[in-house]
Amino acid sequence: MAKILVTGGLGYIGSHTVVELQEAGHEVLIADNLVNSDIGVQEQIARITGSKPALEVLDLADERGVEALFDQHPDLEGAIHFAAFKAVGESVAMPLMYYQNNLYSLINLLKAFQQRGLHHFIFSSSCTVYGDSSEQPLTEEAPRKPAASPYGNTKIIGEDILRDLCEVYPLQAISLRYFNPIGAHPSGNMGEVPQGVPQNLIPYLTQTALGQREYLRVWGSDYPTRDGTAVRDYIHVVDLARAHVAALERLLQKRNESSLEVFNIGTGRGNTVLEVINAFERATGVPVPYKLEARRPGDVVEAYADTRKVREKLGWTPKYSLEEALASSFAWETSRSQKD
Ligand code: WQD
Repeated sequence: MAKILVTGGLGYIGSHTVVELQEAGHEVLIADNLVNSDIGVQEQIARITGSKPALEVLDLADERGVEALFDQHPDLEGAIHFAAFKAVGESVAMPLMYYQNNLYSLINLLKAFQQRGLHHFIFSSSCTVYGDSSEQPLTEEAPRKPAASPYGNTKIIGEDILRDLCEVYPLQAISLRYFNPIGAHPSGNMGEVPQGVPQNLIPYLTQTALGQREYLRVWGSDYPTRDGTAVRDYIHVVDLARAHVAALERLLQKRNESSLEVFNIGTGRGNTVLEVINAFERATGVPVPYKLEARRPGDVVEAYADTRKVREKLGWTPKYSLEEALASSFAWETSRSQKD
């Protein structure tokens, strides 16, 4: 078993991955600057696994801070890098903040890897690198398209940085291209904590179901899809977390077939927004008032994963259904609203 650095480990996907890493027997060190997360998540993790992960609060865009982290933890054997700003709209409004934060953090980590002879690196990427593709489901060979946002561009550039470093340094890296993470931990102790008004569908939907929002705005009903609303691949965050453990162990056991591998992490199923609303109502019995609105600029028509490569190479398959994921989101949002 290994000691692994998880950057952004107090965040939504990061914290669920820390739980799965600990439950797989790995030791975890979290590095997080608390900008988009809550230090209370460390206790939530401990309540689930019985083991409180070590935490270093620092800004990974600060090179000296990153060097000091690795000096204090010479026994680190790899890293899973989540820490990044990820709000698409915000990135359009504040591109320099996104490029500086997301790229400086990645570069500082990789410089520390190179200086210390570390190799196992997992990068949090996104299906957004494919842009608006008519070839669905998406395979890893689908061409990357010019990003529709600085956020998406930091994922494309991040993968290019890994590729270029692999040419001159024996980095062993895996880039995981997520589709749409949803859901909350089955224990009810952990889940997504959206900042402000949720931009993503599921947190806004669950808050509407709870009566905290008047109605859900469905962005676009004139797309060339089954019912006119856009199609996405909604994957339970615990399934997504388990894909990270499978990827890490592939690297630790030297089963990777090249120095930079890419995997699409989705369920392989696409659902429209209206289908998600119906699935939510079936799963919870709670109606979701909604209105059909105009398309949201920058949205793609359809994006869902071809999961043959990840199933074959990582031996990973998603276990949760859309209904289970939606029910877990609602249970978590309900428990949060009762605490507020
Ligand atoms: C899903 C669908 C919306 C809100 C983005 C990023 C991706 C990742 C996940 C960070 C779309 C519709 C949404 C609402 C709606 N980000 N929608 N009403 O845009 O697919 O992906 O978030 O890791 O990289 O690109 O996710 O949840 O915003 O939207 O109708 O109030 O739901 O139009 O069709 P998206 P989303």
